[in-house]
Amino acid sequence: MSDKKVSEGAALWHGRFDVAPADDLMAYTESLSFDQRLWRDDIVGSHAHVSMLVSVGLMSETDGASVLAALQSVGDEFSNGIFVFEATDEDIHTAIERRVTQIAGEPGARIHTGRSRNDQVATAVRLWCKREVAIVASHVLALVNTLEERAVEADASTPPVRMPGYTHVQHAQPVLLSHHLRAHSWALLRDVDRISDALARLDVSPLGAGALAGSSLPINPTHSAETMGFGTTFANSLDAVSDRDFVAEILFDIALLGVHLSRIGEEWVLWTSAEFGFAVLDDAYATGSSMLPQKKNADIAELARGKAGRLIGNLTGLLAMLKGLPLAYNRDLQEDKEPLFDSVDQIRRALIAVNGMIKTATFKTDKMIKGADEEALVATDLAEWLVHRGTPFRQAHSIVGKIVRDSIATNVPMVDIVRGHESFGPDAVSLFGPGISVERRQSPGASGPLAAKDQKARLMEAIRSAEARLA
Ligand code: ARG
Repeated sequence: MSDKKVSEGAALWHGRFDVAPADDLMAYTESLSFDQRLWRDDIVGSHAHVSMLVSVGLMSETDGASVLAALQSVGDEFSNGIFVFEATDEDIHTAIERRVTQIAGEPGARIHTGRSRNDQVATAVRLWCKREVAIVASHVLALVNTLEERAVEADASTPPVRMPGYTHVQHAQPVLLSHHLRAHSWALLRDVDRISDALARLDVSPLGAGALAGSSLPINPTHSAETMGFGTTFANSLDAVSDRDFVAEILFDIALLGVHLSRIGEEWVLWTSAEFGFAVLDDAYATGSSMLPQKKNADIAELARGKAGRLIGNLTGLLAMLKGLPLAYNRDLQEDKEPLFDSVDQIRRALIAVNGMIKTATFKTDKMIKGADEEALVATDLAEWLVHRGTPFRQAHSIVGKIVRDSIATNVPMVDIVRGHESFGPDAVSLFGPGISVERRQSPGASGPLAAKDQKARLMEAIRSAEARLA
């Protein structure tokens, strides 16, 4: 048992205790080390709370003015990096209340009227998410814009740059490079959409829920919500202080975004390898080896792939923490912040680095075109040529399959077999012309240049509406 005496300046909640908290307890339960980055949001929440208290007559105009001035000074201290924490500051919320009271004196002691740290914390975390997660979405849009710049550039050459499309990492059918890049953009735009949904759903102020049951004082949660710019206020005080769904949603959205980046990362690891040779990284976005002088590595791409594991871990860790928690606030909930902050920090750095890597890389289009023009990739066009002339697809597939087999077995190019083939003849040989196969892919959403025009228009519209939603 600790024999420390309760003294002035001990934890804010120590009134009913005989002895001061043990150092071990404080060391284990503190959250100041990671929640200090909520200072701005705590001040915004406290400002709204004080304004509300004044508006309903729970605080005098004079007291309100001095508390608001103290909050302003505390904000300045943080902005200028001169705020001094004390050993008894458990978290950012107690630190700010302590400092406000030091500055404002007695009126400061009224700031916590009708408020609990439980609704205070939930408010600050929501405010933080509204600002920081919107920034994540803007970084996603920046990456989409880079992909689109590269897509437009690839389509601007004559003919548009084509490459082999893959299934199972095996050459399958030719696609335009722009088509490949835009495929990633569509996934990223869904990420932005999901983040916007999450932001809309979390736009609910929990301030005024108190510890769990609201207040006997005539507080006005709507006033606080409006001051902070929340869309609406909670309807159930227990839910308001227990709800961390918004953190789970954001962690999922970021985990899936991280998975999308990891797939882009894996492709760039492959594309920059000697075997693929589809792209060369700018020196500024590549790394070297400590031992092998010739190495140029795609570490950004590898970490975009590797860090997805950590983002998934943050989501599963949070869900495991939430699972089975009874209503309402439990200290477990303090564990929401580190995974949230980590995922947001990590994904932001990843988006910026991957963006720079793709923006500055050089595509080896000759290598892509060579792969796209391998004659085996014409196989499906041959089958479809027959289908067009009335052959059932399954039969056409088998006819072309035999041509492929014969070509491999005899080393005679497919084009020569087709030229003399009873089902084809010389007309079909045109299918082997360079770029013909990709040009023929004109169905809606397909990989050819004609469909690309429509896709580009839809993509621009999707980008515009994503930007509008975030604004
Ligand atoms: N630091 C705590 C958190 O982040 C503050 C809430 C503490 N509330 C309480 N009833 N002990 O969750």
